[in-house]
Amino acid sequence: MAKVELLVGTTLGSAEYVADEMSAQLNDLGHETIVHLAPNLDDLDPKSLWLIACSTHGAGDLPDNIVPFMDEILAKKPDLLTTQFALCAIGDSSYDTFCQGPEKLVEALALCGAQVFVDKIQIDVQYDPIPEEPALAWLSGWQDQL
Ligand SMILES: Cc1cc2nc3c(=O)[nH]c(=O)nc-3n(C[C@H](O)[C@H](O)[C@H](O)COP(=O)(O)O)c2cc1C
Repeated sequence: MAKVELLVGTTLGSAEYVADEMSAQLNDLGHETIVHLAPNLDDLDPKSLWLIACSTHGAGDLPDNIVPFMDEILAKKPDLLTTQFALCAIGDSSYDTFCQGPEKLVEALALCGAQVFVDKIQIDVQYDPIPEEPALAWLSGWQDQL
């Protein structure tokens, strides 16, 4: 069974709920999960999958709760060659910076050597007002690869 670290970036709580639902689905399959609302490098296993559930705020910005993690990555430039990640982005296409917040984070992870585990999903709350539904369907499409 796999270990999955869920990294949450949220302002209003939607991405946290999505992360909790994905965590529950993975637990039902026997995988170990930890949900991080204030992620930091010391608490994350670099050999596990990092599943990022993150909205966008401001004008294409990361939610405040995950900005310190982004800053830590940029400052420490950790070796993440053993790390794989997957991105579940949540945004609103009425903004021209649709889902851009977490792009900054995954770019920083990739610069540290982390690999994309599976193609990201970008959930548009204009069309999917219940974002956990497409998120769980996306997870179902690749959870067998864990
Ligand atoms: C002030 C504000 C700014 C936002 N800016 C963006 C944006 O730049 N790009 C985007 O895709 N969504 C943007 N959104 C939409 C949120 O990402 C969306 O409502 C999301 O579901 C919020 O998730 P959360 O509850 O996890 O924070 C913005 C929402 C608010 C309230």
